[in-house]
This record gives sequence, C-alpha cells and structure tokens, in this order.
Amino acid sequence: MGRLKLVDELKTILAPERVVTNRTVLEQHARGESFDEAALPDVVVYPESTQEVAEILKYATENRVAVTPVAVNSSLEGHTVPLLGGISLDLTRLDRILEFRPEDLLVVAQPGVTYPQLNKYVRRSGLFFPVDPGAHASLGGMIATNASGTAAVRYGVTGDYVLALEVVLPTGEVIRTGSRARKSSSGYDLTRLYCGSEGTLGVITEVTLRLSGLPEAASAARVPFSDAESATTFVTNLIQAGVPVARCELVDANSIRVVNAHQGTRFPEEMTIFLEFHGNPPGVAADLRLAEKLARDSGALLFESSSDVKERERLWEARHNMFYAAVAANPGKRNITSDVAVPISKLPVAVSKALCAHRDSGLNGYLVGHVGDGNFHIVTFFDGDDELAKVEQLNHQMVTFALSIGGTSTGEHGVGVRKLKYMELEHGGSLELMKRIKRSFDPHTVMNPGKKIPGVN
Ligand code: LAC
Ligand code: ZN
Repeated sequence: MGRLKLVDELKTILAPERVVTNRTVLEQHARGESFDEAALPDVVVYPESTQEVAEILKYATENRVAVTPVAVNSSLEGHTVPLLGGISLDLTRLDRILEFRPEDLLVVAQPGVTYPQLNKYVRRSGLFFPVDPGAHASLGGMIATNASGTAAVRYGVTGDYVLALEVVLPTGEVIRTGSRARKSSSGYDLTRLYCGSEGTLGVITEVTLRLSGLPEAASAARVPFSDAESATTFVTNLIQAGVPVARCELVDANSIRVVNAHQGTRFPEEMTIFLEFHGNPPGVAADLRLAEKLARDSGALLFESSSDVKERERLWEARHNMFYAAVAANPGKRNITSDVAVPISKLPVAVSKALCAHRDSGLNGYLVGHVGDGNFHIVTFFDGDDELAKVEQLNHQMVTFALSIGGTSTGEHGVGVRKLKYMELEHGGSLELMKRIKRSFDPHTVMNPGKKIPGVN
C-alpha cells in the first residue's frame, strides 16, 4: 500500500497528531540498541487505549501492513526494527498503573510503564517487582522478551510474575488470559506463551503482575579472583550449596575499567563476582559467612561486604550501566552481545572456552554475566566486515557449545533477528509446531515480521 494512503487512513483511527511521519521520529524508531541494521517504518503511531490498538491491528491485518510494537526500545537483538517498514506501534503512551492491590500482592498496569516507575509506586506498601534487567525497560517489552537480569537467580524471570494479560490479537480481537489467582491449572497457559513472544503474536495492552515483599535486610559483597575459571567455579559451588544468593554477577577487569571511567567510580579493575543477599539480619549474616568460605576455598583474593544502602546502590548502578559505559568507550564502533545460558555445572567450562576464543580473536570485548543463572554476555565491539565475520564466528562457537551441553542461545535478550539461524538447531521438531502457532495467531504475518521464528514471513 502507498504510504500516503496508509497515513491518511490511520488518521481516521487516531488523532492526526499521533500519526507521525517526521523524519527524526522515523529514525528514532528504525533501530534499538546494539542491533544496527536499521529500517525506517513508514509511520509511527501513538495509541492511547486498548481500543485504538485494536483498531490499528484490525486495519493492519485487513490491509497486510507490518506492525512492529515498541516502547522504551532497549532491545539488543533488533526486535523493534521495522524490517518491512509499515507501522511502528509506539506504546509509550499506555503508561498508567490501573490498579494496585497490596492485599493481594498484585498490580495491574499498562505495557508502557517501566519497571523503575512501577517499583517507585508500590514501594510504599513494602512490595516490589524484583526483576531487574537494568535498562529502564517497559513492562510490555520485558514480558515480550521474558527479560530477567541481575536478580533472577533468587526471584526468577518476568514470566514468573505475570498472572494475567490483556492482548490484542492481530485481527483486532481483544482477549484476556490468566486470572488473579497465584496459581492455576486451567486451560492452556496462553499467558506464558506471550512471555517471550517478542511481539509476534499480538500486542500486550494490560498486564497483571504479582509482587514480592521487600527484604528486611540486604548485604552486598565484592569478590575478586585472579581468573575467570576460579571465579565461575566459586559460583557453581555457591549455587550447588543452595545458598539463596539474590544477585550473583561476573564482571571482568575490562568492564570495570570502562564503568569507572564512565561513572567516576573506583572499583578495583579485576575479574570480580558481585553478590547480594536478602533476608533477615541473622540469615544474611549466615549466607555471607558461607559464601565467604566457599569463595576462599575457590581462591578468592578478597571478600569485601557492605550493608550500606548507598554503597549497594552505587555497586548495582555501576553494574547496570556497564553496557552503556562500554558503548560510550567505543565511539563509532558497532557491537554484538552474546547471551548464552548453560547448566550451572558447565558454567566454568563455557566461560573459559568463550574467553579463550575471544582473546585469540584480538577483538575488544567485555565479559559480564548473570552467572548464578549460568547466563553470561560478551559485548564485542568491531569495525568493518572482517571483524564482523570474526564476531559472528565467536558467537557461533559459543552458541553451538552451549546447545551441545544442554544450554540455550539466549538466556534473556531474546531471538530477535540475529539468533534466528540457531532456532532449528535449538528446537528441532518443535520449531515446526511453533511455526503453526505463529500462523494460527497471525495468519497474515503482520506482527513483527522477520523476528523470533524463522521462515514464517
Ligand atoms: C547486561 C545486559 C547486556 O547484563 O543484558 O548488562
Ligand atoms: Zn544481561
């Protein structure tokens, strides 16, 4: 369809000022973070209600126009790139908290609310939404990628908190999944199907999340090691011992160096495990003692802990800004971030192998990871096609090794565009069933084409 006709017709659905073709706005919606093969949408629309989303999707399906949902746009895997042009559906105006029921430990919100906004809101009742991916992400985007981040080792991933959803199907039909009960054995679990669906099965317009109680006490620790092998062996031992660690993050010297430069912090620049423990004061003290013993047994150079709130906040802010610090330290360069996750006993071998290959390649990379979950990233910067080929080769080795030992190609960032090529290897025969699911939800493949499932567009 011609662009002018598309824009004119969308203006009959939405107020004209919310149907935007301004070049700057189109460019802002052409790519997310990291994945840099941009594509401009024909138009960006800003719905303000479920009804408006429904009318846009009905129109898009009837006219076979591609729709790419987006909000904060912090995806690292190209989820928000409108590969076929069409409509970029910007959900940032669906940003209200609709209902808060502290007595049921749940909250109902629109998808454009970010998790820091949600936490600010519910904190006064002693509650929090503990999933912390660090990107100021929107709830809709977090559900769409089943995001996790630094606290998943203790609290689980986004999908573990989603009780119910309102979703607009590609046809414009509005459905509700789930309930307000904390558990259910009823029906097929469509709520979970939408967790990690990457905008390919419809648009989430309302989310019901369960919340957790804020811990009474917390303590953080910084534990440097001389190498990645001993650091990750410590992590494996810690998890195998059942220590209920709340965060367990690996950061290499290179990452700490850039974050110190970026944030003005002074963390010693060495291979380090950052830990956090939550509970009551005696419980946290006991967890720290056990962790320290295990760390020293694995060769820790030091075990430095603190329960000071400001110091903890500084530590986690630094950790959460590492990706941005690395980007700032490599101006003009492109980057690719690997995201494998492996069974915990295989963490040391997977990290050591990846680091060795990376060093041999001579590329500039930053190792960070949610290692308590067996999930780690190497953020690699490169220039030109030769270096790109090297990074792709490294990622290929990492993914195929992870899959060969029972792991996954993506622990938290999602498939997007770059990991499509691994789906057959990872899912075998069930990929065909996934394609059938995609086709039955979205027969004209208008929803986020070119993402998540290969060979359906
Ligand atoms: C992190 C992002 C890259 O862990 O997932 O910092
Ligand atoms: Zn991460």
